[in-house]
Amino acid sequence: MTGRVSDKVALITGAARGQGRSHAIHLAREGADIIAVDYCTSFDTVSYPMATEEDLRQTVKEVEALGRRIISIQADVRDQPAMQQAMADGIAELGKLDVVVANAGICAMAKEQPLQAWVEVSGVNFGGVLNTLNAAIPHLKAGASMVVTGSLAALLPGGPSPEPGGMAYMWAKRSLVSLVHDLALVLAPHLIRLNGVHPTNCDTDMLQHEEMYQSFRPDLEHPTREDATQAFPVLQSMPVPWVEPADVSQVIVFLASDESRYVTGQFINCDAGGHLKI
Ligand SMILES: NC(=O)c1ccc[n+]([C@@H]2O[C@H](COP(=O)([O-])OP(=O)(O)OC[C@H]3O[C@@H](n4cnc5c(N)ncnc54)[C@H](O)[C@@H]3O)[C@@H](O)[C@H]2O)c1
Repeated sequence: MTGRVSDKVALITGAARGQGRSHAIHLAREGADIIAVDYCTSFDTVSYPMATEEDLRQTVKEVEALGRRIISIQADVRDQPAMQQAMADGIAELGKLDVVVANAGICAMAKEQPLQAWVEVSGVNFGGVLNTLNAAIPHLKAGASMVVTGSLAALLPGGPSPEPGGMAYMWAKRSLVSLVHDLALVLAPHLIRLNGVHPTNCDTDMLQHEEMYQSFRPDLEHPTREDATQAFPVLQSMPVPWVEPADVSQVIVFLASDESRYVTGQFINCDAGGHLKI
């Protein structure tokens, strides 16, 4: 099969739904086999539910329908031994590891949050990314490519919310910028690349829930999806409320492929010009 990532093996975290599932499908369509990792467990400090085991099975079905191999693994990115085991199991099944997409993330948006929201959001969005990269590094060879998922909202002054989870979201995503810069320098002599993508609002479960609607429409007590959709464009320069998961996946495929073989240590904004307003 010829494709832009033909016969590469790609591990994706948060692959049960949303952007992660879209990345799995787009990479598979371009010829990759997939190691799909997801925790499939919700968090007390996050008001919207996480993906389910059924969601993860759906990702498996959609990748298999494209004629590619896929192994799904339930693991928490915060758990370093579990991530090491996921790498080992995936490689035992699919033979190697060429691409890593550290995409799993959570966003706490409640009006009043316990300190535990800091612990969980920073643990997943920074600790989980570092765990994923560190568990992958011993398996990577020249030509490998890793990508982390940042966020435009995290670059905004004040982040998505002044509460502990909002601050942790901002801190974690900003810290990924420094992680990508410094770790890319360490990996470059080995011809291993590390980049990131900053999506703006993206049409997934992380965006489409009541607390998120309230943060965009503080003037309404119970804003609906329609109410929030009117306000969502405020982040972007282009007149759109969000980007689709597929828009981010196109960037991921480029960064995963050899087309970007000399691109490293960088973030690409997939944000409809949102960063131009910062
Ligand atoms: N949706 C947006 O508006 C938006 C904007 C900018 C950045 N992002 C980032 O994009 C990434 C993907 O989010 P999404 O929009 O697809 O949302 P999503 O909630 O649909 O997907 C996140 C996935 O990560 C999984 N997950 C959560 N914690 C995990 C853990 N500890 N271990 C393993 N898996 C875990 C969830 O089960 C879920 O399947 C996140 O890093 C998020 O911060 C999202």
